[in-house]
Amino acid sequence: MSDYPKTQDLMRRGAEFLGSDYAILCGAMSWVSERNLVAAISNGGGFGVIACGAMTPELLDAEIAGTKALTDRPFGVNLITMHPQLSELIAVCAKHGVGHVVLAGGIPPKGSVEAIKAFGAKVLVFAPTIALAKKLFRSGADALVIEGMEAGGHIGPVSTSVLAQEFLPALAEEHLVFVAGGIGRGEAIAGYLEMGAAGVQLGTRFACAAESIAHPDFKKAFFRANARDAVASVQVDARLPVIPVRALKNKGTEEFTAKQREVAGLLDSGVVAMGEAQLQIEHYWAGALRRAVIDGDVEAGSIMAGQSVGMVKQEEPVAEIIDGLMAEAEAALTRR
Ligand SMILES: Cc1cc2nc3c(=O)[nH]c(=O)nc-3n(C[C@H](O)[C@H](O)[C@H](O)COP(=O)(O)O)c2cc1C
Repeated sequence: MSDYPKTQDLMRRGAEFLGSDYAILCGAMSWVSERNLVAAISNGGGFGVIACGAMTPELLDAEIAGTKALTDRPFGVNLITMHPQLSELIAVCAKHGVGHVVLAGGIPPKGSVEAIKAFGAKVLVFAPTIALAKKLFRSGADALVIEGMEAGGHIGPVSTSVLAQEFLPALAEEHLVFVAGGIGRGEAIAGYLEMGAAGVQLGTRFACAAESIAHPDFKKAFFRANARDAVASVQVDARLPVIPVRALKNKGTEEFTAKQREVAGLLDSGVVAMGEAQLQIEHYWAGALRRAVIDGDVEAGSIMAGQSVGMVKQEEPVAEIIDGLMAEAEAALTRR
């Protein structure tokens, strides 16, 4: 592990909280963030996070055990709040003594933060507004991730640069805030650290690392793509609110439009209620992402990617990506 004194100084709070050398999280990516990538990130000095996604408690159990076999460094687990077996998944994390749980995909349901803290783990949450972030900190959350719309996967409506300017001055002195979305180089990391961020979270830059199990065709699609190819999905029916997803433009993007019409039709005819309709949409995304990441179907599958995809040019080992980011941040801070 190399030394990057100025950057590490600004990352100190975040790195101490995570137990890693550098306060760089690899955000959980469904199907991509499994034991190999997660262990490589943590072994490389960053902080890996397992994407539980739609896994059953048994699968999560095996994935955590598999990750532990590959690293003795700390790593986290990302749980989707709308998972019907959230309590059982938390129990699996407790059984393994997981140190950090990230609650994603919505406001944490009552009792979930408490259940995680009860076995001594730290809780990281997402919040779209400062008021909600403060409420979550009051109810026990240990750290916040703010994620801008430049990111890959499910996104909110506001850019990272604006979120950072709003949230960091309001919260970063008292609380740990990690910045995510559109970060491709270390100069940007240096900037957010100087604004008070405890650290950063990246996904797109790590998705096609040498240790990532993503299909070679998924990786090739990343290497070819430019920022403008990573587009947000559109909502076609005002009655069916869908969370936009940023992915590379392909045939699957159009199929999603058709899927929305189909689900809206079911909603209209009373065959499904709103909650079920939204769950169907989420199942669609999980399936489409699996087709792209695991099967290499880059036509009909969903190649979720952030706008920083244009900065991903080739397969690189995780340790080199992390060192490159740290060296860029250090050089930027040294030039100041
Ligand atoms: C392929 C892919 C899948 C993702 N899946 C998830 C997920 O399952 N849960 C989650 O909380 N975030 C997910 N994300 C978001 C990442 O965790 C991370 O916050 C995001 O990639 C950061 O922005 P960036 O892509 O601009 O680096 C995903 C991102 C990508 C690119």
